[in-house]
Amino acid sequence: MRSIYITTPIYYVNAKPHIGHAYTTIACDVCARYCRSQHMDVKFTSGTDEHGKKIEQSAQAAGIETQLFTDQVSQLFRDLLPTLNITNDDFIRTTEPRHKKAVEYFWERLKEHGYIYLGEYSGWYDVRNEAYFSEEELVDGKSPLGGDVQRMTEPCYFFRLSTFGRQLTEFYEDHPDFILPIQRKNEVLSFIQQGLKDLAISRTTFKWGVKVPKDPEHVVYVWLDALVNYLTLNGYPENYDQNNDIFWQNSVHIVGKEIARFHAVYWPAFLMAAGIQPPKQVVAHGWWLSEGEKMSKSVGNVQDPVKYCKLFGSDSLRFYLMRELPFGADGNFSLEGFINRHNAFLVNAFGNLCHRTLSFIKNQADGVVTKPLSSEYKPDDAIYVDTVNSALTKAKDDIEQYSFSKYLEKLEYVTSISNQYIDRQKPWLLLKDGNVSRMNAVLFTLLEQVYKLTKYMAPVTPIAADKILEQMNIPHTMAILHRERIPERVEIKDPEIVFEKIDGSDLSKFDVYTND
Ligand code: MSP
Repeated sequence: MRSIYITTPIYYVNAKPHIGHAYTTIACDVCARYCRSQHMDVKFTSGTDEHGKKIEQSAQAAGIETQLFTDQVSQLFRDLLPTLNITNDDFIRTTEPRHKKAVEYFWERLKEHGYIYLGEYSGWYDVRNEAYFSEEELVDGKSPLGGDVQRMTEPCYFFRLSTFGRQLTEFYEDHPDFILPIQRKNEVLSFIQQGLKDLAISRTTFKWGVKVPKDPEHVVYVWLDALVNYLTLNGYPENYDQNNDIFWQNSVHIVGKEIARFHAVYWPAFLMAAGIQPPKQVVAHGWWLSEGEKMSKSVGNVQDPVKYCKLFGSDSLRFYLMRELPFGADGNFSLEGFINRHNAFLVNAFGNLCHRTLSFIKNQADGVVTKPLSSEYKPDDAIYVDTVNSALTKAKDDIEQYSFSKYLEKLEYVTSISNQYIDRQKPWLLLKDGNVSRMNAVLFTLLEQVYKLTKYMAPVTPIAADKILEQMNIPHTMAILHRERIPERVEIKDPEIVFEKIDGSDLSKFDVYTND
């Protein structure tokens, strides 16, 4: 059985989760559900990144003791998972003892292998993004990541990143799909070609972190601490044997583009230094704007995924996020766009197709279709089925390349040609003419394609897919067993509408923004 280990980034607990965080988590969940449907052994994890100066400062600003503050915000991220219908297997907090142990052990290995030395760092520190930058890297007095910077000098431990340029370049050459999509790979390559500098991996200016083993004045740099979470989740360091860690060998980190460098350069270098193989893949997605602008508390345009789920259901949010953003590109999250996609596809196209198919069978065929004799088929059926199959095969390629939007485009196409097939075959006329066996052949053909389509929709809209399969009387577990075919006799249950139309005439009536 093929295995895969899918990880979300672990989220900073300085503020409530917003739709940007929901996006990454949902993308991972769609992959996890898809892989399970392909009979793969899936491990899927998420969590929160709780150390560092930014968190310490946020707790101070909130007037709450840091541990309590992290407990509260971490809980919001944890609670978001069932709200979004996420099927993660584990959730890690970097303040947990199991993780602290892993970070200490990992540090000791880097030290033991000669990759850590004590020095002094002086540079511009971007607190929001927890990263140092040199004078030349600043853009208009800010860090290249957009955060305010402050000049800082501190004694610190360094990691000999500068020695990894060649090894990393060779690694990317040997693993051409290590970083997806291609534009992110190019950015990483040019970053390395500019020459890697040693990396400051400890801090002495604050206390909120994992203490450096044998030198407790220092805390471990939050990014080194955070990245190790992916190993902690696999049981590192106790009895850890990477050769037996099938999940690690098939690990995929899905991250936002702004943290691709940490995952695709620093992390493989840390791992190589510790004697562990790099992850299998880093997939970097684009960035959401909100109503055309960068999301920010001060603009007041931070959109709340919990409110979307309560108002419209998690399936609709999942669909919009996966459909709207082309893979790797940036996109704009708008309430109006959300409602348009919901109504146009989930209600009028997919929902309508399922409902009209099932209602017709229920009302005009006594709720039953049976496998027709081959003589009942017409060439148009085979053309329709072939077109569906070829679109679904392409859709599989898309999702396996993390192109969720293209995947859903194909499913939209299958929906539309299915509606066209009904309109061409006109089963109501076949009934009127008393041609019941041909009508059965049309309905059986149609139901089988709608069934396949629903299974392909299931990773994205699992609640609706379950309801539709249930109405077809083919529960999900059986759907996996029967794969592409439906049973030879299907007696459907009472059809019900799964997606309700949203009235988008007055957007101001929907409260979708984060208030605090
Ligand atoms: N704590 C680090 C990650 C450590 S992983 C070892 C971090 N956390 S974060 O809270 O800032 O969240 C990062 C992730 O949230 C991004 O990589 C991205 O996946 C997602 N997003 C946050 N804002 C986003 C948008 N506006 N648009 C899309 N995704 C965004 O970085």
